Amino acid sequence: MSEQVPVCRSDELKEGAVRVCTIGDVEIGIIRHNGGCHAYKNVCPHQGGPVCEGVRMPQVEDVIDENGLFVCQKFNENDMHIVCPWHGYEFHIESGEHVIDPKVRLKKYDVVEREGQIYVAI
Ligand code: FES
Repeated sequence: MSEQVPVCRSDELKEGAVRVCTIGDVEIGIIRHNGGCHAYKNVCPHQGGPVCEGVRMPQVEDVIDENGLFVCQKFNENDMHIVCPWHGYEFHIESGEHVIDPKVRLKKYDVVEREGQIYVAI
């Protein structure tokens, strides 16, 4: 049975913002994205960097024409990534999976938002 720990008021976490808090001895980042919240342990699986504090950027995709030739690259705003500030590992913001190797993933926590308050389940 998990415990729901209050971390902040809903209006304190605006779209695109991150709040890092410590619950027990675990540092957790709560990220507001597309109106919802995602919570991850603020430790990168690569070498322990503060991954939740990295920039967020969209997936970069190749555009290929009908002849199979490369045209350009474009951003896919529907697939945002968290980029670890130490060495640039990228993780899908909604799943915590590494963009290349889904076996490498951030430790995810459930988030509950009710009555104007955000809770992390630990
Ligand atoms: S510690 Fe995160 S990319 Fe290396």
